[in-house]
Amino acid sequence: MDNRIRIFDTTLRDGEQSPGCSMNLKEKIQVAKCLESLKVDIIEAGFAISSPGDFESVQTIASVVKDCSVASLARASVKDIDTAWEAVKHAADPRIHLFLATSPLHMQYKLKKTPDEILEMTAAMTAHAAKYTSNVEFSAEDATRSDWDFLVRIVDAAIRAGATTVNIPDTVGYTTPSEMQALIEYLRKQVPDSDKAIFSVHCHNDLGLATANSLAGVAGGARQIECTINGLGERSGNSALEEVIMAIKTRPGIWPYETRIDTTQIARASRTVYTIIGQAAPLNKPIVGRNAFAHESGIHQHGVLANKQTYEILTPESVGIHTNNLVLGKHSGKHAVTDRLETLGYRLTPEEVQSIFEEFKALCDKKKDVTDADLEALVEHRSIKPVFSSVEGYELDWFSVHTSNFTTATCTICLKKDGEKFMDVCLGDGPIDAAYGAIDKIVQPPEHTFGIWNIHSISEGKDTLGDVTVRLYAGGRTYTGKGLSTDVIEASINAYIDAINNFCAAVRIPEEASA
Ligand code: KIV
Ligand code: ZN
Repeated sequence: MDNRIRIFDTTLRDGEQSPGCSMNLKEKIQVAKCLESLKVDIIEAGFAISSPGDFESVQTIASVVKDCSVASLARASVKDIDTAWEAVKHAADPRIHLFLATSPLHMQYKLKKTPDEILEMTAAMTAHAAKYTSNVEFSAEDATRSDWDFLVRIVDAAIRAGATTVNIPDTVGYTTPSEMQALIEYLRKQVPDSDKAIFSVHCHNDLGLATANSLAGVAGGARQIECTINGLGERSGNSALEEVIMAIKTRPGIWPYETRIDTTQIARASRTVYTIIGQAAPLNKPIVGRNAFAHESGIHQHGVLANKQTYEILTPESVGIHTNNLVLGKHSGKHAVTDRLETLGYRLTPEEVQSIFEEFKALCDKKKDVTDADLEALVEHRSIKPVFSSVEGYELDWFSVHTSNFTTATCTICLKKDGEKFMDVCLGDGPIDAAYGAIDKIVQPPEHTFGIWNIHSISEGKDTLGDVTVRLYAGGRTYTGKGLSTDVIEASINAYIDAINNFCAAVRIPEEASA
């Protein structure tokens, strides 16, 4: 059997559909570009039929991405499959991914269909997808709680009808490594033409076993792993790409498999996704958490100083983390900043470098030492905004807040738009509430619910940059805004203005509603 594992990334579908992780079009494109640099084999760009916004993002990603296959999810229905194909058909290597549940629970209560009907749908809908392309993936949803012999019939029907990849999802994170390995072995043995398709695993992390289950599936003969950056995904998430990849890399004797992933892009992809969803990695998150390579205790430090391998099984550099954290400051010139950006793995145009350099200089006036994390934050924020931004709106001109612990906070704010200035003032429960009230008075946005305000620090020290994310909800959609500043009130104001601009643009131009 060949030892090449295909990496199917579903950050933009399973990851994005989980609460708090929705992304707009430009953010999805940014993630897709990171996935392409990582060299995943397949990007599941979305679920084209689920909304016009999803359709547009799948279609856009299909046209932007050149070096990976691009897939759209579809239920086992003609309309879903036709829409999925319409969205991906211009991709360099388009894939239709259809799914149908096969467990007794799902068939009886969710689909209200008999096993024979499910079998018939599997054959008919896979054949329908195969009329468009030979790159068809069939997923037996809730496979790990399905009857094994029924699964044999389902997989057999899918392969006969033209599926070239057969996915065996652990939809509810219920299976165990030994069970997963045995199930894949069983299917490969019992399905007559099993060698005509690549077997795939898609494991959820409800019991914290997703990575182990995925690797066990591979040991059983699966040659595709479905996973997400940072393990995003429904409920407790999916198998984390960075974990499965680094496990394979670190233990080749146990898992003698090849992938085409460029592991040095892992940290960057992780950071981009966390920045977009407005979260910081949990400190102890494997591979990408801030403590993943930190050695605090004396015994550990002593060991690492003597020989890194005493407490490090993989190097930070192998995942793109640079430990020689060179500190830049106001005397650093453009050459030093450009050089550092290149070392950090950014390939920027001269115009982009110039604009980051200007932001860097402005930051040096507020912050003595500019670290790699600060530079990375400047680049990440910049790439979420102007590069793909078609959204024009309000901009902060100036603000003034008065706050204390014995009076009501007040904010006076001045915003600019199309060369005009708008000023208002508002009281509030603290300076941020007052500022947001003043912005609302100026912009008067359509009805919405304020979702989250989230802040995390980019580096250490009292003068750290604060990274603020704001989410607004309206009409079943989420509108995200980002702000970055050493002044957390300024960062909060910019994040809110950004979210309001995105929201107002979507209302103005309904087809941009996904953005
Ligand atoms: O978890 C699952 O079963 C899925 C399928 C749609 C592949 O996400
Ligand atoms: Zn899933």
